Order: sequence, then structure tokens, then C-alpha cells
Amino acid sequence: MSTPGKVYLVGAGPGHPDLLTIKAQKLIRAADIIIYDRLVQEEILAEARRDVELIYVGKRPGQHQSRQEEINQLLVEAAHRAAVVVRLKGGDPVLFGRGGEEAEYLASHGVTFEVVPGVTAGLAVPMAAGIPVTHRDHSASVALVTGHRRSDRSTAEVNWRALAGLDTLVFFMSVGKLPEISSKLIEHGRPAHTPAAIIQKGYWPEEQTVVGTLGELPALAEREAIKPPAIIVIGEVVRVREKLTTFHRDLRRDKDEAVGFGLSADSLLVRIGATVRTAKDVVAAVELRLFDALEQPKTPAALAQAQGLELEPLRELLKRLAGLGLLLREAGVYRNAEASSRFLTSTSPECLCRRLDEELAAAEGYDPLAELQHPSKKSNNFRAKKG
Ligand SMILES: C[S@@+](CC[C@H](N)C(=O)[O-])C[C@H]1O[C@@H](n2cnc3c(N)ncnc32)[C@H](O)[C@@H]1O
Repeated sequence: MSTPGKVYLVGAGPGHPDLLTIKAQKLIRAADIIIYDRLVQEEILAEARRDVELIYVGKRPGQHQSRQEEINQLLVEAAHRAAVVVRLKGGDPVLFGRGGEEAEYLASHGVTFEVVPGVTAGLAVPMAAGIPVTHRDHSASVALVTGHRRSDRSTAEVNWRALAGLDTLVFFMSVGKLPEISSKLIEHGRPAHTPAAIIQKGYWPEEQTVVGTLGELPALAEREAIKPPAIIVIGEVVRVREKLTTFHRDLRRDKDEAVGFGLSADSLLVRIGATVRTAKDVVAAVELRLFDALEQPKTPAALAQAQGLELEPLRELLKRLAGLGLLLREAGVYRNAEASSRFLTSTSPECLCRRLDEELAAAEGYDPLAELQHPSKKSNNFRAKKG
């Protein structure tokens, strides 16, 4: 017997929201529950309904063990309690994304599901750096390779000889393995002078490209402090980049862009101010310093106690802020999303608190704190606290 709900295993593309497929966008907007990974931008989640249940299942810092079994069970459980469940993954869901494993699990548990392909980082990110992975003059074959193997699979030896003989090699999850990749390929016959590149966080504001030869790339990447996620491309196609460096990219993201929304600080302000409800929520959270408090994850109950607030209205407020993409919610614990840490905490260099407070203090007839504070605990407003 199949479940009442359907699980969509959806590719979110390499990071830039404009690289979502139309189907992915429709599903994100329709979803009752979104279960998402680390490489999904908060802007993409901001497309979701305000009352969506967002569940983060990416790796936590310091966590090494796979939570795959837990995630599989979560998907089945979600399909029993919601109509549209979106399992959102970076890039394409089945390319090194465990989408195949999740689909198998859903099938064997009678859950209705569908896989919605996404733009994989393996093809899009090299081109962001001006490197087409095939080219009639340089490459007729491409291998997409992972540097990360299951530690319990002794048979998972890489066939370096076969790889060394292919035209273009694209490595995922391999920043730490770059010295080994370079030396093994050279050992198996690939010339050390083969052009090679590593692209960190393509389509994100932190995008950075380092180009060199196969022999020198490990040292260059270390010198430039390249960090995961990154894609490594090896092959003659890397040369094409030299002819394409002048091309203009709409899809480039500037470092000083608001990471959470992809908008400048002023546009972010306009968007936040677009509805009274939203404005009221954000101002209330700013005045109560909830974003400061949520730099460390907390449950609604712990936050209510720490800030001396009424639990139920606070819980509702947190849900709405999570719906806006300003907070992240995982297993009932809330923490700041990147946009709120960057713009809405009082210690952030780009703090919007002051601007928001000034703009909205002018609007009469509302008291954003009324239902949240204990009558005995009514504090001064934000400006008064700043002194
Ligand atoms: C678990 S795999 C997921 C791949 C994904 N399913 C896809 O199709 O792109 C994660 C790896 O993809 C690569 N990756 C994903 N997004 C990237 C990006 N925007 N820039 C560079 N590498 C990226 C990195 O190698 C990262 O370690």
C-alpha cells in the first residue's frame, strides 16, 4: 500500500537560485516539508511557503558518521504525515548525492516518489570558470569521480590507470585528496604538465578558481587556502579558459552580496519591509535580540526562558522567521541563518538593526512586542537599549 504523501528527490543545482529547474521551484513553493542538505542556499529555501516545515539534515561540524539510515526513516515518516515532501539536494540528486539509495529505500517501503534532476556542479562549476568539460578539439570523454569512498568497502579501489587515460577528469569531494590524485595520475602515465584547475564554491559569493598544471595544482591550492566544496578539473579543456576569461556572467555572485537573499542590503530591507507582518516579525526579533541569542542553537523553550518571553507566540514567531529563511530549524532547534547572522545581529558589521528600527519606528499603530513579553517584563525598545 502506498503512502498518502509523495516524496520528491529534487536537485537544487550548484548554488545559484537561478539554476533551479522550474519543476524544482514549483515543488519548493508547494512543499509541506523540505528536508535539505548543507549545499542548499538559503535563498532557495526562501522560496518555500511560510508554514513549511524545514528540516536540515546536512553534516554538523565535527560530525563524521553518516546519518543516512536516520534520513531514510525521516523521509518515510514525512510521507505519512504530509502530501508534498521535498528532499532537496545540491546539484543533481543522484550524482554523488545518495539519491539512488534514498529512492531504493522509499521504493522498498511503499512510498510514492519521483526524482527531479538538477544542474550538477560537475558540469556547471567548471564552465563558471570558463572550462567546458568537452570540446571537439580537446576532449571526447569525461569521467565524474568522487574522492570520497565508503570506508567499509575494501573493493572501492580507484582504477587510476583507466582514469589517467581519459580526456577530462572531474573530481568531486577531493580537496583533501588533491596531492594523492595528482601523484597517482602522474604515476599512471598522465603528464605532470596537463592543465588542471580547482574551483571552490562555484556560483556562491566565495567562488574562487586556481589554475595550473596537474603537478603544481596541490601546492597552488594549498597556497590559496582552497576549501571544500570544490571541483577539480584535469585535462586539455582547461586551456579553453584562456580564451573565455572576458565573458560576462549574469550568474556570478559578488562577495559583498547579501548571502541569504542575493540582494544588496537596501533591497533586503525593502523585501523585509514588504509586508507589515514580516516587518513586525523581524523588528520584534531584532528588538528582543533573538538573532543575537540564536547565534547558538536553542529550542523555543530554552529561548523563551532565556529571554523571558511567552512560549507559544514565540514558537509561532520562530516558525515564521524560519519560513522567511532567516532562521534554520533542525529537530526542533533553531539557529541563525547566514542572512540573519550577517545583517540582523547587533554585532554584525553590516547590521541592519538600526536602519530597520528607524524606518519602522515611523510606522504608527503597532507594538511588535505586545504579545511576546510578560506584562512584568516589558522592556524599553531597541533604541533605548542601545543607549
Ligand atoms: C555530496 S557531493 C554532491 C554533488 C551534487 N549532487 C552535484 O550533482 O553537484 C558534494 C560535492 O559536490 C561538489 N560541489 C557541489 N556544489 C559545488 C559548488 N557550488 N562548487 C564547487 N563544488 C561543488 C564538491 O566537490 C562537493 O564536495
